[in-house]
Amino acid sequence: MQPKPSPELPKSSSPLWLDRLSLPQFPKLQSDIVVDIAIVGAGITGITAAWLLARDGRRVALLEADRVLQGTTAHTTAKVTVQHDLIYDELLAHVGRTNARLYYEANDEALGFIRDRVSSLEIPCDLTEEEAVLYATTEAGEQKLLREYEAYQSLHMPAALRSDIPFSIDVRKSLAMPGQAQFHPLVYLSTLLQEAVAHGAKVYEQSPASDIHYGEYPEVVTCDGPTITAEKILICSHFPFYDGLGLYYARMQAQRSYIVAAKLGIEWPGGMYISVDGPSRSLRSVVHAGETYALVGGEGHITGQESDTEKHYQALTDFAASHLRTEHIAYRWSTQDLVTVDRLPYIGEISAVQPHVLVATGYKKWGMTTGTAAALILRDLAVGVKNRYTALFAPTRFHADPSLRSFLAQTVNVGSWLVTGKLDKPSREAKDVLPGEGATVQYGGQRAGAWRELDGTLTVLDTTCTHLGCEVMWNAAEHTWDCPCHGSRFAVTGEVIEGPATKPLVRLHG
Ligand code: FES
Repeated sequence: MQPKPSPELPKSSSPLWLDRLSLPQFPKLQSDIVVDIAIVGAGITGITAAWLLARDGRRVALLEADRVLQGTTAHTTAKVTVQHDLIYDELLAHVGRTNARLYYEANDEALGFIRDRVSSLEIPCDLTEEEAVLYATTEAGEQKLLREYEAYQSLHMPAALRSDIPFSIDVRKSLAMPGQAQFHPLVYLSTLLQEAVAHGAKVYEQSPASDIHYGEYPEVVTCDGPTITAEKILICSHFPFYDGLGLYYARMQAQRSYIVAAKLGIEWPGGMYISVDGPSRSLRSVVHAGETYALVGGEGHITGQESDTEKHYQALTDFAASHLRTEHIAYRWSTQDLVTVDRLPYIGEISAVQPHVLVATGYKKWGMTTGTAAALILRDLAVGVKNRYTALFAPTRFHADPSLRSFLAQTVNVGSWLVTGKLDKPSREAKDVLPGEGATVQYGGQRAGAWRELDGTLTVLDTTCTHLGCEVMWNAAEHTWDCPCHGSRFAVTGEVIEGPATKPLVRLHG
């Protein structure tokens, strides 16, 4: 089969999930309030926890910095599966059989929870049961897949080992797990949110949290001043807005990856797929506005360590043209994932001395099941119910192997980027930056970041990251300034898009 020429990419980046969707709107927090549980972050974990707790009769306030469901949860591929890439063989080696099985069960319960909610609340989110399939195209990948298959068998997980997948891809082995699912995440979660509100939950948008203060009870302080006092505070804001001396920025790595929605030139055979060899490729189908698309994802890299990010969309488009015979890319978007040093999420007390503040973060790329599992665990911790998964996911854990090696590698990586950025001496000047272009430049004798709007307006920013001082890099595809050290991201005007930074880049001009 001859590959077709690659189609054009859409001009701007926006997830398919947000197209034609009307999300509920909520007011800003205008005055101090007191509740039982304050939840920060209205994505899958925050909304699910709000629904669980409000339904149990707790007074709940859900706080969102921007608009509900517009953050990381809107940028997922929305695979609802316990097949989290290659992980079970590694878990067996590093945390043992009992804990590896617990990881599987926590995520399987989350899958069952979503399935049950869709059924009981009759949510029209196009949930379909699918096989989740890992596939290997190289000998090294095949060996990894065979070890993963043995891990599945050892953990009594459903699995089928095969020698192909139903696409024109030269595959050596595939590993299928039946009974998984896919859905429209925002239709599911906006329904759950409205149900939480019907049970009494209060929701506040455009009310970013800035800190936690301690009195008799802890209180969430917002940037505009009003506070929420609560018995428990649940931090579900992707990167935790409050560190609590937990050093989360040093224990997680921020990674970006890319997704295109490709109109199909073949009949979709069913299933959800992910490659175990690089460059990574993730596939699922979605029917949207009467058309069937393949969501083609992959091309992951550490945030801020590449500037020519357009090439990643192009690589996915080329793959779709070659293997799916697509002639049209309707949507493209990118996402940011947080990976912990031992690849297990952090869910539980933010630190040993702050039992009233709970956190959930570090889901890798598997937020639909892990985010739901986190909500179930946080609900139990918030109301004092024993939960059998708390020790495995406790943020205060420390598994020396492989955590220590990963931790040291990450520290070295951050150190080298700190030095590299400071030595960078751009040759261009701000006046030479063209409309629609961003670049690092020399400005007033220092490295700076310049962006020129199409109307000619120039903005120049100090490229020193306001978190710990690394130099941010230009992200050409998303038109943002990204930090290579801990993954903070800033808009062309300097505002924070993603933490751990909490303050905007300093404006030098414009
Ligand atoms: Fe830590 Fe930029 S995110 S220095």
